[in-house]
Amino acid sequence: MLVTTKELLCVANAENKAIGAFNITGLETLQAVLQAAESRKEPVILQFAQVHEEEQIISLNIIGPIMVMMADQATIPVAVHLDHGVDLHILKKALDMGFTSIMFDGSSLPYGENIAYTRMAVSMAQEYGASVEAEIGQMAGITLNDRKITENRKVDRRMFTDPLIAQDFVEKTGVDCLACAFGTVHGLYTTKPCLDYDLVKELDAAIGVPIVMHGGSGVSEADYDIVIENGVRKVNYYTYMAKSGGEAARAYASASDIVYFHDIANTAIAAMRSNVEEALRIFAHHRED
Ligand code: 13P
Repeated sequence: MLVTTKELLCVANAENKAIGAFNITGLETLQAVLQAAESRKEPVILQFAQVHEEEQIISLNIIGPIMVMMADQATIPVAVHLDHGVDLHILKKALDMGFTSIMFDGSSLPYGENIAYTRMAVSMAQEYGASVEAEIGQMAGITLNDRKITENRKVDRRMFTDPLIAQDFVEKTGVDCLACAFGTVHGLYTTKPCLDYDLVKELDAAIGVPIVMHGGSGVSEADYDIVIENGVRKVNYYTYMAKSGGEAARAYASASDIVYFHDIANTAIAAMRSNVEEALRIFAHHRED
């Protein structure tokens, strides 16, 4: 059943949990995430990141309509989201395909420009009944700035989200949720993540809309528990799911004399499915298993 991200975030607030938002880079990740969500009976967000098109992994034109169709056919509530859109054209394209939420990422723009473009994204999304995420502060790791892929893996506290600026931004733009920087990194962690739990709490009290945690894979269960308790309601998750699929495929291929691609793909799907099931168990937070 296709729903908006806003609806799912309301459920997350009511149940004091977070919704997993998984980046889809092909039919393998799509099947793994939906199978995991169906088996755990948890709502889920399927998201497509503009950077994956820029990296030529897969284009929105190919996978976007399939994501919407599969979301519609699912027995659990599923939102379909455009992640880290840095230009309004791709956001409109996603909305035209039936995506139910979009993220405009103006975090690398001057503050005034971020507000102006985010407002345009909000008014565009309103025409489709879709919800909008934006970003204040800057995430370390791999990012897309003005269609250029950049990498800066150093976590710098000056890039963390300032609660007063975030509050002003939400008031001026009317976004439905906000990506905040508090110590996570996009991509592989090369050192143990050190999250600012108190900042999450301060942001939650200041901004009045759900907090989105980017760079969400690769974090310990204890970290997830605390940040969800403190107000994180959407966790963006990709790298460690993809790594689990890649590692399973490598082990399968190196153990077999004759290797067929469909077997490699199915091995990867199974590994990613169990990685996502575990993430969904943790994000459901205080729920008993
Ligand atoms: P990871 O790939 O680090 O899990 O982050 C995903 C993300 O934040 C997508 O927006």
